[in-house]
Amino acid sequence: MKSILDKRLIRFIDLEVPDCLVAFEEEKTELHFPIVEKSGFEIEIKTHSENVACTAYSFGQYLGLSNAENKELYLSGLLHDIGKVGIPEVILQKSGRLSKKEYQYVKMHSRIGANILKITPGLENLSKTILYHHERYDGLGYPTELEGEKIPVFSRLIALCDAFDAMISTRSYQDSRSIEAACEEILLCSGKQFDPYLAKEFTEYVYTFDSINLEEA
Ligand SMILES: [Fe+2]
Repeated sequence: MKSILDKRLIRFIDLEVPDCLVAFEEEKTELHFPIVEKSGFEIEIKTHSENVACTAYSFGQYLGLSNAENKELYLSGLLHDIGKVGIPEVILQKSGRLSKKEYQYVKMHSRIGANILKITPGLENLSKTILYHHERYDGLGYPTELEGEKIPVFSRLIALCDAFDAMISTRSYQDSRSIEAACEEILLCSGKQFDPYLAKEFTEYVYTFDSINLEEA
């Protein structure tokens, strides 16, 4: 059982730091794991994790956070769903609606991820962020129904980046939304699912980022 988990863990965290993040250049080798063939599902998770990492890093820069904090956000984004290695793939890859019991399984991934990081040398400090990344500002999230500012701020930030990427990505079970529609949804969920201050800042950040890209095009 342990060897199966290890194998899946290696596949899951086959991550490379993008070239754009030159600050991490020296650490690239430390983050590089053996490349093995991946299924479409695994590529989807890897891409999503990298997107969340880059968005969190860039949003952290926009907020004026320190390099150390942005690095922590980047790593938290990469590893936010690491706990899914402990969830049966048949559930993770199910295309239809999950049963109540299956959803209970999926919800375990934040706690499993936190436990993995807690015992991973050098990554222990990410454990809390990962544990609470599915909490909601209104206290209706999981795994502990923590609410408001009791939720660690990096967890609140990762939750936003996670939801944003999920909305603008095409998945097997959904079409992608436009950036504008995703921002509208984030503002609609401000104070419910998301921290209102971060939600406002995030949408402003997205439009700033988007206009920069348009100018460059
Ligand atoms: Fe998650």
